[in-house]
Amino acid sequence: MGYKDCGGYEVSVEEIKSLVASIDSYNSVSDKEGELLYNLCRACKEGVIVEIGSWKGRSTIWLGWGAKEGNNKVYAVDPHSGSPTEPGSTYEEFLENIKRAGLEETVVPIRRTSMEALKEWTFPIGILFIDGDHKYEAVVNDFMGWGKFLVEGGSLAIHDTFVLEGPRKCTKLLYECGNFADITLLGSTTYAIKKSGIGPTPYFVRRISELPYRALYSSGRRLPKVVKRLGWRVLEKYPPHSWRYPTKRRAL
Ligand SMILES: C[S@@+](CC[C@H](N)C(=O)[O-])C[C@H]1O[C@@H](n2cnc3c(N)ncnc32)[C@H](O)[C@@H]1O
Repeated sequence: MGYKDCGGYEVSVEEIKSLVASIDSYNSVSDKEGELLYNLCRACKEGVIVEIGSWKGRSTIWLGWGAKEGNNKVYAVDPHSGSPTEPGSTYEEFLENIKRAGLEETVVPIRRTSMEALKEWTFPIGILFIDGDHKYEAVVNDFMGWGKFLVEGGSLAIHDTFVLEGPRKCTKLLYECGNFADITLLGSTTYAIKKSGIGPTPYFVRRISELPYRALYSSGRRLPKVVKRLGWRVLEKYPPHSWRYPTKRRAL
């Protein structure tokens, strides 16, 4: 991967991968998903970038480097109160990782829960990434509450929509609400473009097109590694997709 001009800075995807490699994961984004976030942010023309759920900064760094190109900002909302298996603050480690990545000027930490932060929020949002509290009601509140600020043509991405119940069920709403086009799955991230009033997209098509994904995911050791790798490559090229109002975005 070559170098890309990044608002006066130079960065390559490989460099971002190595920046995030040492950061503790907690259901964190994969490199492929990170690259997707990075590309969405690079293409963002209007509105700021909001991340709900940062943990120690892995996804924030992908978003941050994408934001830097357009001199944009990432508002990273997280109370940083740890996880059930790792109680205690993650804030200091988060700040350290953001500093090490050279993103202190780009990332604005908001150390609150998403609902607390929402009460005072006023900016239009160009990219909304949801990866905070994974309970169904919480994901829906993030989707409905923060989604109101998403500009037309802006992108929404929800993590963990493939295996975790809350985000997966919320994806159904995304299809049914009638305000999103080009709904696509990459890894476990469902992403879409805001297009108000286009009407609902049939969810069953997604469920059917997800079947090969599910088969590969649950095949465990039954399939040889090389077959699995090939399978994922093909599915990445032809992901479960709504086929409604496709845009050029997937080619980013
Ligand atoms: C799965 S981790 C996020 C992983 C991160 N996006 C990454 O890729 O590395 C979930 C995060 O959501 C945060 N969180 C939990 N409840 C939240 C809430 N109500 N509002 C905002 N963030 C929340 C947790 O503190 C945790 O850091």
